[in-house]
Formats: sequence, C-alpha cells, structure tokens
Amino acid sequence: MRVLHVCAEVYPLLKTGGLADVTAGLPPAQVELGCDARILLPGFPDIRDGIRDRKLVAELPPRFGADVIRLYYGVLPESGIAAYVIDAPALYDRPGNPYADANRQPYQDNHRRFALLSWVAARLAQGLDSFWQPQIVHGHDWHAGLMPAYLRAAEQSTGQKLAASVFTVHNLAYQGMFSHQAFSELDLPAGYFDVDGVEFHGQLSFLKAGLYYADKITTVSPTYAREIHGHEQGYGLHGLLQRRSQDLHGILNGVDDTVWHPTADALIAARYDSRSIAGKSKCKAALQQQTGLAVRGNAPLFCVVSRLTEQKGLGLILAVLPDIVRRGGQFVLLGSGDADLEDAFRACAAAHPESVAVTIGYDEALSHRIIAGSDVILVPSRFEPCGLTQLYGLKYGTLPLVRSVGGLADTVVDSALENLADDSATGFVFGRFDDRALDVAVRRAFALYDRKADWKQVQKRGMQQRFGWDTAATQYVSLYRQIAA
Ligand code: ADP
Ligand code: GLC
Repeated sequence: MRVLHVCAEVYPLLKTGGLADVTAGLPPAQVELGCDARILLPGFPDIRDGIRDRKLVAELPPRFGADVIRLYYGVLPESGIAAYVIDAPALYDRPGNPYADANRQPYQDNHRRFALLSWVAARLAQGLDSFWQPQIVHGHDWHAGLMPAYLRAAEQSTGQKLAASVFTVHNLAYQGMFSHQAFSELDLPAGYFDVDGVEFHGQLSFLKAGLYYADKITTVSPTYAREIHGHEQGYGLHGLLQRRSQDLHGILNGVDDTVWHPTADALIAARYDSRSIAGKSKCKAALQQQTGLAVRGNAPLFCVVSRLTEQKGLGLILAVLPDIVRRGGQFVLLGSGDADLEDAFRACAAAHPESVAVTIGYDEALSHRIIAGSDVILVPSRFEPCGLTQLYGLKYGTLPLVRSVGGLADTVVDSALENLADDSATGFVFGRFDDRALDVAVRRAFALYDRKADWKQVQKRGMQQRFGWDTAATQYVSLYRQIAA
C-alpha cells in the first residue's frame, strides 16, 4: 500500500508539539507492516535543509504567491522515511515558528502557504512524480485540511478516482479559519464555498474542508473521538462530525521507542528500566542540580513539559503550587507560549527558588531530563485529544497525574484502592476541572509517595505498559484497506 502523509511538522526537523512526534513515529511503523509510507512537507528552512539526499522531482509554475516552486525528494534523518519537500522560498523561507511571525501573529498569507501543501499532495495523487503515486493520502490537522478538497476537485475534473483520503484531527481547537475573500485565491471550484463544503459561519475553514471531503476521519484517541461529537468539545463542528460518525475513528497515538525509552536514552544522566530503577534517582539528582533546585532525593518532584496554552489547564497548577511547596514537594516546568502564564510561572520560581524551577523556551534535551528525573508528571488539561507527555511519563516511571479527558482518560488508570489491589493502577486521575479536584489528586500523590512499596508497584506497572506505534499503524492500515478499493 502506497501512503502519503501530508503535514507541516516532523520530529527531529521541526516540532512545535505532539503532531511532529506522530508524523515521525507513524510512517516507520507502517513501513514495518509492509506499507510504502512517505511524507510531504512544506520547505520551511529546517525541513528543507534537514532532508538528506535531496533530488529534484519537478519544477512547478508560479502559484499561491510563490514565483518559484520546486518539489524535492529525499529521506528524513534517523528514520530514513522517504520525504517530498516543497521548496517555495516566497512562502516558506521565514525563520522561527512555521505558523506565526516574531510577534506571534499568524502570517497573513497562511491560507496560501498551506493551500500549496495540499494542492501538491493532490498533484502527487495525479502522477506528479512519475515513479510513485499514492493510493492513500493522509492529511494531518488543518494545515492539510484542503488536501481532500483538492483531491475531490481533481477527481471531478478528470472523472477518475485518484486516491482515497484520510484526515486526522490532532486538535479540533485549531481550525485554520480565513476570510471569505481568501477562498478566491485557492483555485477551488466556486461551489465548494458552501455549507456543504469549506464554508463555516461565512468564513473559510481548512479544518472543515478536511472533515467534509475526506473519505475517513480519524482522531488521536477513542475518548476524544466521542467527545467531539458533543457541543462542548465540537467547536461548532459537532453536527458535521455526528453526520460523519460512521467514518470517524479514534486511534490512540503511540510512543516512538527509539526516541523515548529510559534504557537507551542518551540525553538523560543514567539509563534504567522497570527491574533496575536506580538510574532514575541519578536522573533526579542531576535534574535538581541542573535546574537549581535543592538536591533532595526524598522530595516528591512534580513536572510539566508543555505548550503554555489555555488547553493545558496550567492555571490549576498555579493554584496548587504553593501547597506542593508547603508539603515539601518540588516542581519543575519547561514550556513556552502564553505570556501571562510564562510570567506567572516565573514569579513562582522567583518566590521559591529551591523548590520551583521554571525554564521558558523549547528544549528537547531538557524535556527528556525532566521526564526521566521527576516523580510525577502533571497534565490537568481542559481537553486533550491524546497527549503524549503522560505516555512518556509512564515509560520513564514518572507517574502521570491527569484529568480524565480525551486521550488522558484512555491511557492512565487511577491509583484507587481497587486498582491498587488488582494491580491495574498507573497514575492519578481526577475529574472536575477545578483546583480543588487537582489538589485532592496531588495530595493522593504525596500519600502514595510515602508508601514506597505501593509507589513502586504503580511505577513498575506504568513502565510495563505498551504504547507502541505498531498497534496504531495496524489500525490505520486496516482503515486504509476499507477505502483503498
Ligand atoms: P500538544 O501536541 O498538544 O502540545 P502533546 O502532549 O501531544 O501535546 O505533545 C507535546 C510534545 O511537545 C511532547 O513531545 C513534549 O515533550 C513536547 N514539548 C512541549 N513543550 C516543550 C518544550 N518547551 N520543550 C521541549 N519539548 C516540548
Ligand atoms: C495535538 C493534541 C495532543 C496530541 C497531539 C498529537 O497537538 O493537542 O493531545 O497528543 O496533537 O496527536
């Protein structure tokens, strides 16, 4: 089966969130299953310069505001996955964040920048590379939302089925909304600007295009797939999602063991596994030292590695932090995003320098050291399509403390007495989105931390969980089979 993934990020070349981990981890697992899985990416500088063995596939006439458009073929570093990269300097050759300028404002021409990505995907389905043509085109998030629309338009004009399409929603909150006028710059049939099409409340929605035109829709956990059918989490798209319910599937993300595994992680102070956990204490001491915390082996160390946005429920953490410190715990955070949250966490660190350490920024190596060196990882999200850091926490013996939503609910089992008794507990789960509910869960974490034998049992159980990409890859391939014919 020939599969083309279409997306804006891929680890290790360019990553702003979990999407990049998924687009790096899923294709190799599909290759293991015998698929010919490739990836199509915009030529942002880090991607264009990071691809190996680059060869020119095609030169395209000016379009979407790009005077020069070249399609290259190469391979991704580390995984060796085959990659197509669109080099269009006028659209992509900008430093920093791929979506926004230095003032964090989305680029004014984002509709054209990401239309090009989807349009080239549809061209590949029409034979742009004479040596390879996908049977399945699989788009990820709004950046690739127009792909199924361009594919449909090409099929209507050629009268021929070109490829089947899958659209994966990693986060329904990011919709790729643009003005009605932007639509006229996209070279789509005029009739597509319709309630049965890409129109959403008078505007153009890339996300809706994906949801409307794709043959199959997936999202990244079974619980989130259910949640987005409802008003609260459906962002106005729940009606469409309900209508497409038969075509909407929740497939849980995996973890790439070649990147995230405490037995082999070269970024952490010492390696360990569930049978011999001593290395984890070394990681904790090294982390405390590196981040300027008091080096205290017996202080429960809570951590966060996250984008600092409304989604992640970080306001709740700010509310319980003084209590964590008062009870003798410590807290370490790595993240960046919302300026108010950045300031608030910085102020906490300044007030408790021995107990609270905050690093504002993006740092891959530190993220590994934090997840390996901490005792508990906090993920109290308001909503969470899947969430990856709780999975990394499980792998590294860092007990996840999560809110019971989306993929968090699907991956963490609470340390309630009955779950301790039947050895199914892997972390802490709370329900209501408020700081008192979080505080109760945090206190339960302190209590379990004092019962060393129970703690070790939960830790070991978590470390033995399997969240390999093989399971997800198998589910995607069986979905592809349903539509490929
Ligand atoms: P989301 O995609 O919503 O941001 P996920 O939990 O799915 O949430 O994935 C987040 C990914 O980004 C994880 O791999 C996490 O380690 C990483 N990450 C988030 N913030 C940072 C940061 N400041 N520095 C390094 N890695 C980060
Ligand atoms: C999104 C979601 C996150 C998910 C990630 C990868 O960014 O917010 O929950 O894990 O995509 O699918």
